[in-house]
Amino acid sequence: MKHEVLEKNIGLMAVLILVVISFGGLAEIVPLFFQKQTTQPVEGLKPLTALQLEGRDVYIREGCNVCHSQMIRPFRAETERYGHYSVAGEFVYNHPFLWGSKRTGPDLARVGGRYSDQWHRAHMYNPRDVVPESKMPAYPWLFSNTLDGDLTARKMSVLQGLGVPYTEEQIANARAEVQGKTEIDALVAYLQQLGTVLKDKR
Ligand code: HEC
Repeated sequence: MKHEVLEKNIGLMAVLILVVISFGGLAEIVPLFFQKQTTQPVEGLKPLTALQLEGRDVYIREGCNVCHSQMIRPFRAETERYGHYSVAGEFVYNHPFLWGSKRTGPDLARVGGRYSDQWHRAHMYNPRDVVPESKMPAYPWLFSNTLDGDLTARKMSVLQGLGVPYTEEQIANARAEVQGKTEIDALVAYLQQLGTVLKDKR
């Protein structure tokens, strides 16, 4: 029997299992590249401003995504706590996306507008000042590090090449928008827009 050959040859079996699994994977993954639901931005989605974009880079550099996800799953417990579940169309301008899976702290997908700028600044300077039981690290250096904006325009045009609809005017004004601002200004600007595009449609 042919099948017996297969069952007695673990090498061949492993290769054929891989082939079967990869077909399954392709059937799930490939359609996502073409479905409108996953490739079209949600209504009203705007690319990050120059300052917000620099804030996002601070977020990545400081590893905030190691403790915070940005992905609300469509479960009651999550939507009650965080708001509308995340939809793919919110992330089409994210390169790379920061969904994450580790939640040492709360999900931040809809943190925009939840607190004042002043709250965020106090919290970043020393989380214990506003949330006494917090075990989040403090980030005091963000208050003295200033941005020079040397690379901001370049970053925006790279993103433009990936399909983010920046205008030439936005790119030309990028340096002026961020120059002299502190990293905390940029980070708070980034946090305050997170998830706001779907916020009202709860
Ligand atoms: C070691 C894990 C850890 C890291 C790294 C971390 N956080 Fe947190 N974060 C937490 C925890 C725990 C909380 C909940 C307690 C609190 O509010 O401080 C929190 C809370 C927050 C909140 C309030 C969320 C809410 O809905 O109340 C914000 C905003 C936040 N973090 C932003 C950041 C940013 C921005 C960075 C990177 C500069 C960062 N965190 C890095 C653990 C972390």
